[in-house]
Amino acid sequence: MAIPPDIDQEEIDAVVKVLKSKKLTALSGRQIKKFEKQFAKYCGTKYAIAVNSGTAAIHVALAALEVGPGDEVIVPPYTFVASATPVLHNNAIPIFADIDKKTYCLDPEDVKKRISDKTVGIIPVHLFGHPAEMDSILEIAEKHNLFVLEDSCQAHGAEYKGKKVGSLGNAGCFSFFESKNMMTGEGGIITTNDDELLEQARLIRWHGEPAQYRYKRLGYNYRMTEIQAALGLVQLKKLDKFNEIRIKNADYLNEKLEPIEGIQIPYVAPEVKHVFHVYAPLLKADKIGISNDEFMKRLQEIIPFIRPIYPDPLYTESIFVEKNAYKYKCPFSCPYYDKELDYSKISLPVVEEICERIIGLPTMPGITGKLLDEVIKNIRKIIKEIKK
Ligand SMILES: Cc1ncc(COP(=O)(O)O)c(C=O)c1O
Repeated sequence: MAIPPDIDQEEIDAVVKVLKSKKLTALSGRQIKKFEKQFAKYCGTKYAIAVNSGTAAIHVALAALEVGPGDEVIVPPYTFVASATPVLHNNAIPIFADIDKKTYCLDPEDVKKRISDKTVGIIPVHLFGHPAEMDSILEIAEKHNLFVLEDSCQAHGAEYKGKKVGSLGNAGCFSFFESKNMMTGEGGIITTNDDELLEQARLIRWHGEPAQYRYKRLGYNYRMTEIQAALGLVQLKKLDKFNEIRIKNADYLNEKLEPIEGIQIPYVAPEVKHVFHVYAPLLKADKIGISNDEFMKRLQEIIPFIRPIYPDPLYTESIFVEKNAYKYKCPFSCPYYDKELDYSKISLPVVEEICERIIGLPTMPGITGKLLDEVIKNIRKIIKEIKK
């Protein structure tokens, strides 16, 4: 059981209107263009390019930035896999840098250590809705001539020093999967101020086809539908309200969980607006005497909609350890990549500690006060039982 997205008559009417118009794609309709314009305006960027998932957004943005064989891109190991797999989709190599202990986002100091002569870019992830430390990341990028692609898939409306995420780097990528801060069922979008990136991204999402039956470069069908865009237009209007509810839920959880010995409430950097896609406190294992896995299992037995959060650093997954991308171990084994990379030898201390201690709690607008109280009550109960 999952908490459903917040949908009311306005979304239903918008979708029905598109269906009745019989204009379902970008070929005939106007919703996608309108959604792109409004999303760009919301983020404070010149452009937005709608696609059909957050993964497609990152794939397209990297391709538009001409990432390819032999290139390394620095990514965090604590995130959803699709922050890293689009690097492989472009035949390039994800290089993992450690995360910050407080924000769970990329640690700029560790990013510096991962830069090589093959590095072409950095993908900071604004994890759980908390923006990454962008000033330092942008400074490193400028010094080494790297692009910065903000994975904002969990952070619609989040702000860093008063600017919306997705407007700080060369491009921002968002997901509109149904659990996100705003959603279109499935869907994604790229934000950018760069005219060349706009042109390439538009081509890549549409078969590389600048004019009908003319094919300029390798592309895909990553187009959004008019139904998704109509849903997105309604959800975008409600995004600030949705985020306010998430922040209020996080405040409530803070108030009730902070006094519990053994729980460390999530950090919010003073320069950011955190939009709490996930509320993620830490367990102080020494005070509780139970692993976060065990803790979450017990909580889930009582409250089934509670979901465990990323259990291990991405570099421990078979896709990386066994190099299960393309045939012949490409792109890791590639004439353009002359390094021997062994992910099984990677050990990053902060992410490994966080994976053992973090728990993820829901904040979505559909969650009622009663359900939050149920979560809090059972967290207290589990801790009390263990301590007996
Ligand atoms: C951080 C992050 N990156 C990328 C993605 C991929 O987005 P999608 O599921 O829309 O392909 C997600 C979505 O789950 C995500 O949370």
